[in-house]
Amino acid sequence: MQLHSNTILITGGASGIGLELASRLSAMGNTVIVSGRDLAKLDQAKAQYPKLHAIPCDVTDPAAIAELHSIVTAQFPELNVLINNAGLMRKINLQQKEVDLLDISREIETNLSGPIRMVNQFLPHLLKQPSAAIINVSSALAFVPFAISPVYGATKAGIHSFTRSLRVQLKNTNVKVFELAPPLTKTTLVDAFEAHDMKGSVAMEVSKLVGYVLKAMETDQLEIRPGQSNLLKLMSRVAPNFIFKQMSKSVDAMHLESGK
Ligand SMILES: NC(=O)c1ccc[n+]([C@@H]2O[C@H](COP(=O)([O-])OP(=O)(O)OC[C@H]3O[C@@H](n4cnc5c(N)ncnc54)[C@H](OP(=O)(O)O)[C@@H]3O)[C@@H](O)[C@H]2O)c1
Repeated sequence: MQLHSNTILITGGASGIGLELASRLSAMGNTVIVSGRDLAKLDQAKAQYPKLHAIPCDVTDPAAIAELHSIVTAQFPELNVLINNAGLMRKINLQQKEVDLLDISREIETNLSGPIRMVNQFLPHLLKQPSAAIINVSSALAFVPFAISPVYGATKAGIHSFTRSLRVQLKNTNVKVFELAPPLTKTTLVDAFEAHDMKGSVAMEVSKLVGYVLKAMETDQLEIRPGQSNLLKLMSRVAPNFIFKQMSKSVDAMHLESGK
């Protein structure tokens, strides 16, 4: 796809991978709207990159998605690219009782229901554009579960599956469907994790990741798997039990920490 003259909406666009994509795409001649829950973070993003537009939205709230849609399509009728990037990742010990029934599935609302609802809400508008794209951000953990983040891994496998189906359903339209599966990347998403949780993975710089992503989008590489993501997908095919066992070693430290 061409990477200039688009109008692009990025959820979770005020930090990390979303903000790097926003600033780079804006500098390449696209109109970019970033969205997120934290107003201060949105203001900060705008102060840093004045060309960005910022509109608050919590993707776990269907009414907020509907409102975002009416604001964006009224103010930016040329909107033709949706990047579903907002995400949340937690370490959850399923043996501990502290997580309540509502909270336990928070990642599902943010990482899975949110993007599915965003697609449903924005698709009719995208279908009207001469050329359009949806980019769903999954993870390398879509290919191999990460046992200390059991709900996160389930959501990323879910969005991977959804994106493949969406791509097939839209094959006869003007809407290209991309999946970005980042490897471990240096952002605040993984701040709550200890170095030993991620043993064996070297975190990629956000600027390097986004450089890779932009090249892949330009050449219509629909499933974008930078760095270790590619390796994890391969290992999930050739040695699924081995790689799952390797990735599950951090559960022992979790058991030690909790005394269970
Ligand atoms: N960093 C990694 O290692 C890595 C690896 C694989 C995949 N990913 C994926 O990459 C995406 C971006 O993450 P990141 O690493 O850039 O982390 P990040 O800096 O924490 O960005 C996540 C963004 O999502 C927004 N967000 C969270 N909950 C939201 C909600 N309910 N509604 C709207 N926005 C919400 C946050 O903003 P507010 O708090 O202001 O809402 C934040 O700007 C995520 O989908 C993540 O799963 C990251």
